[in-house]
Amino acid sequence: MRIYQSEDYQGMSRRAASIIAAQIINKPDCVLGLATGSTPIGAYQQLIEMYKAGDLSFAEVKSVNLDEYKGLSPKNDQSYRYFMQHNLFDHVNINVANTNVPQGEAADADAECARYDRLIDDLGGVDLQLLGMGLNGHIGFNEPCASFATGTHVVDLTESTIAANSRFFSSMNDVPRQALTMGNKNIMDAKQILIMVSGEAKADIVCKAFSGPVCPEVPASILQLHKNVILVGDRAALCKLLETGAALCK
Ligand code: GLP
Repeated sequence: MRIYQSEDYQGMSRRAASIIAAQIINKPDCVLGLATGSTPIGAYQQLIEMYKAGDLSFAEVKSVNLDEYKGLSPKNDQSYRYFMQHNLFDHVNINVANTNVPQGEAADADAECARYDRLIDDLGGVDLQLLGMGLNGHIGFNEPCASFATGTHVVDLTESTIAANSRFFSSMNDVPRQALTMGNKNIMDAKQILIMVSGEAKADIVCKAFSGPVCPEVPASILQLHKNVILVGDRAALCKLLETGAALCK
């Protein structure tokens, strides 16, 4: 794992955006695995700036998002499809037909998960997978559990995730209790992974995930087994991991 530290959220976002831009420049028709949550918003803003400056084109880029709340329509402003449109797709020249988010409203969620796995295969796999991390170590919506899940699946959200994500909804009761998420195998199959972490609240779980044992109780710990992971974080999020002696890249 290569670890890059930035001073603050802005620096972390710029670093992440540069890595994503490099991927697009190296392979204009690449498949990006995209993430939601508050962490990647700054990187998406940087990518929009690069596009507007004429430095980056998304014309041939394809994307697959990690997850979606079960039951939410794409028009719901808390759906992850809405998030992606609002925070990235509507502001760059990506072809919306080439963007994919699991369909939260699908009548048969299991069939939708199987379709999503086939779709990722048909696209030839993910070149660069972006990730954030939940406070309990979840990636996508792979919650702490007894064994690592493999392909796209329906998951029951934990109380801590429902509480953490309730900040985006009008009340706790409005937060969906289930989601469709890529599994650990989908994530681990990506050729390269870029995980972004920011803020003091993540310091403990970042340390646990990347210096502790690989176990499904800390889902992000599985990334220790991937051969091409880049961790970008700000000083606050990385401080405890660095105390364990983890080496930084310049
Ligand atoms: C949600 C998403 C995750 C994301 C996490 C962290 O649960 N499903 O993909 O990593 O939130 O969010 P934040 O970046 O706001 O801390």
